[in-house]
Amino acid sequence: MAKGANEKIAVIGLGYVGLPLALALARSYPVTGFDVSKSRIAELQRAVDRSGEVDTAMLRASTMTFTDAAADIRDASVYIVTVPTPVDEENKPDLGALTAACATLGRVLKKGDVVVFESTVYPGITEDFCGPAMEAASNLICGEDFFLGYSPERINPGDREYTVERITKVVSGQTPDVAQRLATIYGHVTNGNIFVAKDIKTAEAAKVIENAQRDINIAFVNELAMICNKIGLSTHDVLAAAKTKWNFLPFTPGLVGGHCIGVDPYYLAHLARSLGHEPEVILSGRRINEGMSGFIAEQINKHLGRTPSRILMLGLTFTENVPDLRNSKTADLVRHLTAMGHHVDVHDPCADPDEAQKEYGLNLHPVLNEIAPADCIVGAVRHEAYCEFTAEVLGAQVTDNGLIADLKGMWRHIEMPPGVRRWNL
Ligand SMILES: NC(=O)c1ccc[n+]([C@@H]2O[C@H](COP(=O)([O-])OP(=O)(O)OC[C@H]3O[C@@H](n4cnc5c(N)ncnc54)[C@H](O)[C@@H]3O)[C@@H](O)[C@H]2O)c1
Repeated sequence: MAKGANEKIAVIGLGYVGLPLALALARSYPVTGFDVSKSRIAELQRAVDRSGEVDTAMLRASTMTFTDAAADIRDASVYIVTVPTPVDEENKPDLGALTAACATLGRVLKKGDVVVFESTVYPGITEDFCGPAMEAASNLICGEDFFLGYSPERINPGDREYTVERITKVVSGQTPDVAQRLATIYGHVTNGNIFVAKDIKTAEAAKVIENAQRDINIAFVNELAMICNKIGLSTHDVLAAAKTKWNFLPFTPGLVGGHCIGVDPYYLAHLARSLGHEPEVILSGRRINEGMSGFIAEQINKHLGRTPSRILMLGLTFTENVPDLRNSKTADLVRHLTAMGHHVDVHDPCADPDEAQKEYGLNLHPVLNEIAPADCIVGAVRHEAYCEFTAEVLGAQVTDNGLIADLKGMWRHIEMPPGVRRWNL
């Protein structure tokens, strides 16, 4: 079964996860990248990655090829699936992209092939949903003709420290041989830094709980922030003191957006409910984190004390230094403040203005110092450029007696200019 060095790999879905992985694998194997988005493929063929994860030089130097035609991935021996797994309006798993990818794979699978899923799912999706879907589309038998694997992805968009090459990769296979075959392949990317999980469901569960645990921990500090606000304490000051204890977990309060932490716990909750277990901790964490934009809007409104006020929102992306606008909670915050009667200008040096307009109907201001001084500046995202702000920069953007709402604690070290008020989360 082991095919060793003559593997050919196809990566299905070339987004934040699929593209860096495919490029890393292409240093050791022939790799074809397949995506349903024609515009994404056209950009990648021109060596342009709008997600900012890889640069043009890397794309040009790579041997990997890009295609939107399923026929071009027919000769692969290993298929790696990295398509989106979002939730629908009711926060239930939306398996549409996975279903479509399985239908595509069903048309190209051959005996001996392996299909590895990297998309975040709940335990059971790979073997009980994707396997049968590909069987139906291929007329092959899963576990006899073709085989399954699951290898969760752990990278964070924009994180230059924990890149795909530098993190332990969990792999799992339908059989020990498949797991070994995958350990060999992924080992080329991670310098052998591989953990072979007991089985596929274990690997699926490990991924989804990593993110659910993060969500719950952030919910705890968000709840702490609500309590600190009532006492009149700065949450960041409290956390700075508490984290001097060796086993205190250093989480910080804030908005939880994006496609992972704010989404994956719903996958686990959905599974739990389908099995008759009400996931109380997981869902109360979600409720608190989902409620943060409303809580923050109320605090800003209260501290402003005047409606309408002009507010300058700094940062729209879901996290720092990336253009990723998926599930932006700043957009929710803007909505709340606008509904309260305020006028909100939004600035973000990383986001694509067209996407901001399309996704949220927001016009991004291109040049910060062309925006007239506002009654309130909200530091919503810790973009590098914002962290470098001085008291003078902030002072120039805010009116007399204005308010600086520092949601990320990024300006805690700055002594505000006279007359400028500060509110920290
Ligand atoms: N981005 C992250 O940091 C991260 C981290 C860990 C896990 N994940 C998980 O990895 C998966 C992918 O996330 P992402 O952030 O890379 O998503 P993404 O939206 O950036 O990219 C997904 C790509 O898949 C393509 N696609 C959609 N349906 C397809 C289909 N049927 N066939 C081929 N291509 C298709 C899209 O056009 C897009 O280019 C998700 O399950 C996500 O939860 C993401």
